[in-house]
Amino acid sequence: MKRTIVSSILLLWQLNCTAQSLSPIIGANKIIDPYHYTSVKSQTFDKASVACAHPLASAIGAEMMKQGGNAFDAAVATQLVLAVVYSNAGNIGGGGFLVARKSDGKSIALDYRETAPAKASRDMYLDKNGNAQTLLSQFGHQASGVPGTIAGLFATAAYGKLPFKTLIQPAIDLAEYGYTITEREAAALNSVRESLIKNSTAPSAFVKENKWKAGDTLIQKDMAETLKRIRDNGQKGFYEGKTAQLIVDEMKKGGGIISLEDLKNYQVKSRTALEFKYKGNTIIGMPPPSSGGLIVWQLMKMMEQRPLANYGFQTTKSVQLMVEAERRSYADRAEFMGDPDFWKVPVKTLTSDAYIKNRMSDYDSNKATPSKEIKAGVIKESEETTHISIIDQYGNMISITTTLNNSYGSRTVVAGAGFIMNDEMDDFSVKPGVANMYGAIGGEANAIAPGKRMLSSMTPTLVLDKKKKPLIVAGTPGGTTIPTSVFQTLVNILEFDMNATDAVNKPKFHHQWMPDEVMTEKGFSEDVKKQLLAMGYKISERGAIGRTEVIKILADGKREVAADKRGDDSVSGF
Ligand code: GLY
Repeated sequence: MKRTIVSSILLLWQLNCTAQSLSPIIGANKIIDPYHYTSVKSQTFDKASVACAHPLASAIGAEMMKQGGNAFDAAVATQLVLAVVYSNAGNIGGGGFLVARKSDGKSIALDYRETAPAKASRDMYLDKNGNAQTLLSQFGHQASGVPGTIAGLFATAAYGKLPFKTLIQPAIDLAEYGYTITEREAAALNSVRESLIKNSTAPSAFVKENKWKAGDTLIQKDMAETLKRIRDNGQKGFYEGKTAQLIVDEMKKGGGIISLEDLKNYQVKSRTALEFKYKGNTIIGMPPPSSGGLIVWQLMKMMEQRPLANYGFQTTKSVQLMVEAERRSYADRAEFMGDPDFWKVPVKTLTSDAYIKNRMSDYDSNKATPSKEIKAGVIKESEETTHISIIDQYGNMISITTTLNNSYGSRTVVAGAGFIMNDEMDDFSVKPGVANMYGAIGGEANAIAPGKRMLSSMTPTLVLDKKKKPLIVAGTPGGTTIPTSVFQTLVNILEFDMNATDAVNKPKFHHQWMPDEVMTEKGFSEDVKKQLLAMGYKISERGAIGRTEVIKILADGKREVAADKRGDDSVSGF
């Protein structure tokens, strides 16, 4: 039996590891070695593939499909492995969104975003003078929403073929016996060392006496025990019993407000995916409480009637048009978008042809439109999130973006449970109309309320071709830059005819209405910058924008897969 093959190889690995031997592991036909691995940035596969932030997670996801599982099985296994090997964003203490298109043509949108605890209140981060205390919404025990990831994984597994026990076992083994960390991960862990110590109440696997370095083995015994409780007790292994009690105990130690009832009451929401046509192709995205699907819808429609391909890739003309579209769409985000169970998001209006046309009616192709003339406000968010793109041998496509919000979330490790809690409460408007620590502003639409989901920018996206056959699976981390990264990736493929690797790796640029500036990555054309400056734009160079994972399905059915060069991201498949 397939399950037996995987299990027995894992068992061999466990025996070897127990004997202090760092032996290769996992897979009937392919070795996956947690102590020696490298990123594969781009490859074309015949049948199935995964692209995500870590080579071990991609490899194990692909292995699940090779063992007879489907894309949903891969989605579960990959996320669980990321929770172990990519702990700054992979998680069980956070939340996410999944958009899928099944091989039978049905679309699925799973919302496992965190919720505000029952004791949360609109003014919970205000001091007695009404000043926002944004440190509290971002670090430590009070920053966390009720995690949704494990509920999301069980909802995903319902569409899979393999037992959950099989899907979770690689993550358990990686936590229990360890894996070697990359240079990037060593640097990331070192950079948050003091913050992890400050915001946790007990020592954790993520902090050691000396600095981490590439090649060190990270072992997470408490995390392994938590994953075993989930394996043995299902969703209740997280939301009830010992794990739930450990979360609540941790909350009490640091003034957090998540209760046993909050955990027990957490529910995944199955939403209706957003679907729209772009030049005959169908684009499928996540609806609110993510803003991503709506922003991409608006941006693509603002392009559709304009000759973008003729303007050329990253010419002054095409960049200026895209920047002006982004400016307008991000202004709408701040005003109109929030959790649809608490706030009526005018989806139909925001995406209607008349509205989009009117939105661009003051667009001037010769000069910048000042953001203060569009609408007032400032938006900026943290950028540590992670994305997984998957397609299987049956034609199921899945796009998942998941997050702890900040890098390593709230920096609070649940004592005895070994995982990091999110700081997603910071994605709410901590005080409507007032910028939080990241400069994020919003209004009533995104004000805090018990049980409410905070507005997100995550943009898991799928594209079908004119015959409704799979064409693109895409997504990225990157806070508010997420929708623009996805937008530019789609445009790179659909308008500028790029392959997956170029679509992912070409320099990106970003405008989010406020601050009123065009942010560019290194490598962006200096000539275009000069011309934009002359037109009245403010330009600032910034670090990497996103870590995009793309699968492009070629005319012959092959899967061209690209993992972003900006991180340790890697592809796998067969
Ligand atoms: N926490 C980042 C986002 O959801 O957009």
